[in-house]
Amino acid sequence: MGKAFGAVAAVGAVGSLVAMKRTWDPLPSVKAAGFTTLDMSIYEENKLVTEKWRGKPIFVLKKTAEMVAKQTEKQKARDIVIGGAHYMVSIGLCTHLGCIPAYDAGKEGFLCACHGGQFDFSGDVTKAPPPRGFDIPPFKIDGNLLVLGEAGPEYMKMKETGITL
Ligand code: FES
Repeated sequence: MGKAFGAVAAVGAVGSLVAMKRTWDPLPSVKAAGFTTLDMSIYEENKLVTEKWRGKPIFVLKKTAEMVAKQTEKQKARDIVIGGAHYMVSIGLCTHLGCIPAYDAGKEGFLCACHGGQFDFSGDVTKAPPPRGFDIPPFKIDGNLLVLGEAGPEYMKMKETGITL
């Protein structure tokens, strides 16, 4: 009788642990939702596209050959290079108080209407009050694809060199 009771209790305990683990683990859909995969071959030069990653706006700007030729080393360090093309990919929130700046293709720069902050076509700050350029989301290059939410070697280098937080 005692043995039978013990066996039933043990089965019950294992069952509870399995149920608890299911509750703790994120759903497969939630895990997948942490990543956004972008096909970088679809973007046009000097046309800003706003994508989404984890509910945040993500600016994607494919640079023209002229932009690439004239940019400084600091601007170049922010580039994501895929298939020979240079891209600015950043979280599209002003680093001052979080407004969404607008891109002016003619001026090749961003203006934040909230307090007049400005950013260049690389997403670096050119006029205060924003304290720094746009933050760059974790990314991994996979052929022509850019996976946001995964930290590849190019992103780790940007973090180590202080290009992004
Ligand atoms: S929120 Fe952009 S300048 Fe203040």
